[in-house]
Amino acid sequence: MTDLSVANSASTTAFDVEAVRRDFPILSQQVNGKPLVYLDNGASAQKPVAVLDAMDRYYREMHSNVHRGAHTLGDRATAAFEGARETVRNFVNAASTREIIWTRGTTEAINLVANGLAPRLKAGDEILVSHMEHHANIVPWQMIAERTGAKVVPIQVTPEGELDLDSFNSLLNDRTRILAITHVSNVLGTVNPVAPLIEQAKKRGILTLVDGAQAVPHFKPDVQDLGCDFYVFSSHKLFGPTGIGVLYGKAQLLEEMPPYQGGGEMIERVSFERTTWNVLPYKFEAGTPAIAEAVGLGAAIDYLDSLDRGAMEAAEKALLERANQLVETVPGMEIIGTAANKVPVMSFKIAGLHPSDIGTLLDQQGIAIRTGHHCAMPLMDFYGVPGTARVSFAFYNTLDEVDKLFTGLQKIQRLFA
Ligand SMILES: Cc1ncc(COP(=O)(O)O)c(C=O)c1O
Repeated sequence: MTDLSVANSASTTAFDVEAVRRDFPILSQQVNGKPLVYLDNGASAQKPVAVLDAMDRYYREMHSNVHRGAHTLGDRATAAFEGARETVRNFVNAASTREIIWTRGTTEAINLVANGLAPRLKAGDEILVSHMEHHANIVPWQMIAERTGAKVVPIQVTPEGELDLDSFNSLLNDRTRILAITHVSNVLGTVNPVAPLIEQAKKRGILTLVDGAQAVPHFKPDVQDLGCDFYVFSSHKLFGPTGIGVLYGKAQLLEEMPPYQGGGEMIERVSFERTTWNVLPYKFEAGTPAIAEAVGLGAAIDYLDSLDRGAMEAAEKALLERANQLVETVPGMEIIGTAANKVPVMSFKIAGLHPSDIGTLLDQQGIAIRTGHHCAMPLMDFYGVPGTARVSFAFYNTLDEVDKLFTGLQKIQRLFA
């Protein structure tokens, strides 16, 4: 067996990963007769007991509909729900909870913004995205472009998987209306330098949306610092429940945008002659919201806040470093995405092996990774591959798990070589 000791010097940190793992009950199970090694956190992360308990307690002790003011349970539910909104406001450093809209996730948040900005677009206008976007930050814009006659224009990426800044500069022009860009690539792990891009866009009056789906599990965004007009993310990748996500938007823009869906809650007054809209953020929250899920997301953020962020980030960095060091132990393995600034995400191919076979064979060893196009087909086309295998680490992963992954890859490679 190939020696794994090349990485034995990987940095040790003050982060007590074993204690943290005890907070995630799902991790301590066997899958296919082997201890689970969960390395598919980019697709969806696991939930700490704090989240499970908060949602359980919500349903046991305070569930009712919100904002009805009819009775005590309703008041409790409303307080928990709006408390979670304040937790999210604080997490992204928004100026006001009026700027925090609950959505079903990143995808719905981008669709909401695209629809809300459609009235501002006309034929010939341009929407800049990048070649490394998730489909969620391409297709809604294409749909709006189809309706308005605007055009979706991709910023190129370099072979290393970084944004090509020359391409960005050359594409900015008087027709550019919107810049919609991912903070972190779900395939490459690249952390994009969004702040300077936003600054340039702002100088030209271009509206900016940042897709933070893959950023927030690894670092806290500061929307006021970034200066973006919109920032979106999903709870389930941030160790919270599925079914809820967040749209941060600047209040003035949200005020100007038309509602996304009609129904209860989003109205001020309804009549057959004239219906008027509720104030922010409720104008964009038609129908009964995902109350328990909001509470769960608030609990996830509180849980993250209870950890030492610096130590957590150092631990994640150590995981990626170790994985990078071990690549040479698997003949024919090649990393796709070698940007200088990365979160712990590693896409790769192994010569002679199909990504889906790598995934299936690892699963037999209890190791969960993601394979396929990762909802980023344009990026797959750029690299000339049908798909990749992708490992995405979270702070609860261990160096031992990295070793197990590579032992598994070595086995698979030998089997097929
Ligand atoms: C960068 C990025 N954007 C958007 C999405 C879509 O998120 P959701 O499916 O939670 O709406 C994902 C999901 O993988 C993603 O990685």
